[in-house]
Amino acid sequence: MNDSTLQKTEALLAQHHQQHLLRFRGQLSDSQIQLLLAQIRKIDFSLLAGAPKLTTTHNVSRADCAAAPSSVIAWPNSATDHQIRRNAGKTGCQLLSDAKIAVITVAGGQGSRLGFEHPKGMYPIGPKSDRTLFQIYAEQILARRRKHNALIPWYLMTSAATHDETIAFFERHKFFSLDRDTVFFFQQASLPAIDAETGAILMDSPGSLCLSPDGHGGMVTALQSSGCLEALKNQGVEHLFYHQVDNPTAIVCDPILLGLHATRQSQLTTLVVRKTGPEERMGVLVDIDGRTEIIEYTELTGEQAAAIDDNDQWIFWAGNTAIHVFRRDFLEFLTEDDTCLPLHRARKKVNCIDATGAISGRQERDAVKFERFIFDALPLAQRTLIVEGDRQREFNPVKNADGNDSPKTARAALSHIGCQWLHTAEQSVASGTVVEISPLLALTAEDLCERLTLGNITVEDLIG
Ligand code: UTP
Repeated sequence: MNDSTLQKTEALLAQHHQQHLLRFRGQLSDSQIQLLLAQIRKIDFSLLAGAPKLTTTHNVSRADCAAAPSSVIAWPNSATDHQIRRNAGKTGCQLLSDAKIAVITVAGGQGSRLGFEHPKGMYPIGPKSDRTLFQIYAEQILARRRKHNALIPWYLMTSAATHDETIAFFERHKFFSLDRDTVFFFQQASLPAIDAETGAILMDSPGSLCLSPDGHGGMVTALQSSGCLEALKNQGVEHLFYHQVDNPTAIVCDPILLGLHATRQSQLTTLVVRKTGPEERMGVLVDIDGRTEIIEYTELTGEQAAAIDDNDQWIFWAGNTAIHVFRRDFLEFLTEDDTCLPLHRARKKVNCIDATGAISGRQERDAVKFERFIFDALPLAQRTLIVEGDRQREFNPVKNADGNDSPKTARAALSHIGCQWLHTAEQSVASGTVVEISPLLALTAEDLCERLTLGNITVEDLIG
């Protein structure tokens, strides 16, 4: 090992009062020290110390300046509204056939609330088949490729926490019949957790720091540093359909959403659903000073969350589904300043060793973790669009092990959608029947009607 590298690192750590990170170096092999030094070299100490763009929580007064979002295409309730969506669907289909669209799935999160010990995308969610989340998206993409006869590249963001297992899973499942050279994995960065009281960087072991993924907003920098943004440009992709790994009912590459986004020349489009009520724990889209922003539910008092405006309209209704469409050139613009998305701090318990050597064994510490959020890109766009979707059909996330937004509610939603499609196809199913329709059989109720009419599937194939 090079002594001068070690000395420089010691000096750097002393400057930032983090000397404890090398405390156990006498116990480490050369290769372990190299790994530790590599982790230390990646730390941006200015961020941890509280650079200007570091936020804690937003100022509550943001809510007082907020108005209901203005650039909205509401859920259709007239013939004209329906016609607008039909036309948009045609535009979206054209974009797909012209190979202008790629998919980004962010799958780097640790899924701590769900308590599943593998990457969340590996969670079995099909109500009849136990299809995993990854398989549902893969089948949707394969079905879209077939339908529009076009390559739709799939970009998956992983993190140190999920990368190797995700790739091994795709390998094991032969990429779910997708050509493997059309599926791209790129890894987001990690950031260290610090002790909430002292600011000391926490250690996971004598040779490694407590690191966690830098939030879904880490996608912007990761797209660029991995070369994927350049690759997207070379592929001729103009818009990216973005979704999170934990919503199995997301309509991946929904032509209507793509078409509305393109027709309105939006740089960043967001699918929203009407919140069930002011108390629902969901971020909402609003206008502040003429810009679209998100206000987190934690920023609103009960009274603010229920506020109505001068037109008697509920202000905080537009719940974020985390389904977006980005123009590729807007993502390129975001990468011009890699600190454009602020770092947020979250208080969490972190399991670590005591790097001061005062206590032996592991312990839970009150820690601060740092994350960037993709929705902080909203106010940076000149043109945004908000499209209201159908909650039952499109937004059923798997966040918690039980209760709301859990595997149970998501499976029920998938089955319910299947029942509705069968109903549209004039097939009756007994109440309580579990239904599951593979995206490879049908992407819409109309597809299903066609398949049943052609006789190449039967209702019995879909129920369990
Ligand atoms: P969540 O904010 O729900 O976090 O992520 P999570 O890690 O999945 O779950 P908890 O909070 O630990 O229980 C929403 C989406 O953003 C992705 C997740 O994989 C999920 O698709 N994500 C989150 C990332 O890709 N990277 C991150 O650093 C954080």
